[in-house]
Amino acid sequence: MTNDQMSLFDAIYNCRAMRKLDTRDVPEADLKQLIDAANQAPSGSNMQNGRWIVVRDAAVKQKLADLNRGGVEAYIGPQAERPGSLPHQSEEKRKRMLNSVIWQMEHMHEIPALIIACMEYGQKVDATVAQRGGGSLWPGIQNLLLAARAMGLGAAPTTLALNDQDKVREALNMPDTMAALCLIPVGYPLGKFGPVTRKPVEDIMRFDQWS
Ligand SMILES: Cc1cc2nc3c(=O)[nH]c(=O)nc-3n(C[C@H](O)[C@H](O)[C@H](O)COP(=O)(O)O)c2cc1C
Repeated sequence: MTNDQMSLFDAIYNCRAMRKLDTRDVPEADLKQLIDAANQAPSGSNMQNGRWIVVRDAAVKQKLADLNRGGVEAYIGPQAERPGSLPHQSEEKRKRMLNSVIWQMEHMHEIPALIIACMEYGQKVDATVAQRGGGSLWPGIQNLLLAARAMGLGAAPTTLALNDQDKVREALNMPDTMAALCLIPVGYPLGKFGPVTRKPVEDIMRFDQWS
């Protein structure tokens, strides 16, 4: 489905995490459009403290790829203690997801653009400060993912590279008043777009009261 045919609902229902991406460059105008779409999202009191860094530089991408590798290895390591499947996700699907997480880890430095969604807190970020702000950034991240889908670009929200904010700040030359909340690799998809698999709405919704 191309950009001009895709309705908002088509984008919402077909916005899979697309991890396997081509090395082909994404035009700068398209990258700007993604950030512009993200920037239309609401924020608490319309503070608009989201900040977006689009990393294309090879050396900076390599630093982020290294941080992601550390995060992925720590995450994958204890997989033996995690369920091989979940009630709503078969073992085969879970394996496929882990394989694509590993593919992304191996290729992150080659992906054309790594978009970092950040917050400017206006004060030094410590553990307490870092607890807030996400609610004002994630609507923009979802806008960006939907815009990417509508433009035929692959993208996925990731956080495993961002465990050590001091190292992320150093890699991105950010002040200590900023924190990075999400890293979104963006490029042309190698895999196929398709529908997301989610629990049925009956399982997760009630009218009026829960029980
Ligand atoms: C808060 C958050 C953090 C995530 N972190 C990662 C991550 O570090 N690495 C990764 O590959 N995917 C990450 N994901 C993507 C999820 O794994 C993905 O959205 C989920 O498995 C559903 O996949 P689907 O949309 O393709 O069905 C993250 C998603 C969210 C919302």
